[in-house]
Amino acid sequence: MSSAMEAASSPYVAFWNDMLAEKFERFRGILTKGMSHHSRVPLDELSLPAGARVLDVGCGWGDTAIELARMVGPEGYVLGVDCVDRFLDKGRRDAMTAGLDNVEFLAADVETYPFAGGHDLCYSRFGMMFFGNPMAAMRNIAAALRPGGELLFSVWRPIDDNPWLRVGKEVVLDFVPAPGEDVRHCGPGPFSMSDPGLVREQLQRAGLEPMEFRRLDGPVIVGHSVDEAVEFQLALGPAGEAFREAGELAERRRGEIEQALRHALAPYQQDGRVVMPSSSWSITARKPTG
Ligand SMILES: C[S@@+](CC[C@H](N)C(=O)[O-])C[C@H]1O[C@@H](n2cnc3c(N)ncnc32)[C@H](O)[C@@H]1O
Repeated sequence: MSSAMEAASSPYVAFWNDMLAEKFERFRGILTKGMSHHSRVPLDELSLPAGARVLDVGCGWGDTAIELARMVGPEGYVLGVDCVDRFLDKGRRDAMTAGLDNVEFLAADVETYPFAGGHDLCYSRFGMMFFGNPMAAMRNIAAALRPGGELLFSVWRPIDDNPWLRVGKEVVLDFVPAPGEDVRHCGPGPFSMSDPGLVREQLQRAGLEPMEFRRLDGPVIVGHSVDEAVEFQLALGPAGEAFREAGELAERRRGEIEQALRHALAPYQQDGRVVMPSSSWSITARKPTG
């Protein structure tokens, strides 16, 4: 973590850097290309004027920021922001390889960074659900938008509609107890914005007008083999959290858990990959003009 980040760091930002960054890095391909259905659909339909100024918050490795940079053209500008600097290095390298000089990457906490105002759009693929204080982040984003500017973001719908996270969790919980309330974690979590009523209220309290909650169902690729899908489940998401928190007990039963996961995930194989159903909300809100 950079020293500036460290100084501003919340326990969640520290958790991302100390605990999750290495695991996320290991499964980067799954987390970007594997989940891309949920950014592909809204970004293909987005019409952004050339010259637009855009933020991508919780941008991870920057693939969506780079896509947005192509859309806004050389007159436009995209700032990708994430609290894990090592993720951003990949974005910086990719932007350089692509010859793009209208995109930059900044290691910062989206809840507190003093963004310049006047942005036309703030985008986020699966970043918003992890801000420790989502209201602070939304207010900060609202301040960074111009009047009439938009926030477009993807969040997961409930776990029952996301077998790619539900199935592994159920298997792991057959072997270990559910994590306690005091578990160390990365923020509110993947389903914290699955209720449109709650998110609508949060947006309104942050001074944004909710416009659309669009349900997007589609495939996610959770492994290029069943073994990789098993590793992914044991590293991240609700299954990974239950496994990690169970410590010694989970390690003692690792063989049985892996076998049960293999059995549960094998039916989802398609052409050598493990492809599972998933469901997100693509949410649009606008900063009022008046
Ligand atoms: C699920 S990942 C999504 C990454 C990327 N948008 C993607 O789809 O590949 C959530 C991201 O939010 C970042 N994040 C979490 N809390 C943050 C905060 N307070 N400020 C900035 N980034 C944050 C994490 O480091 C992580 O990269």
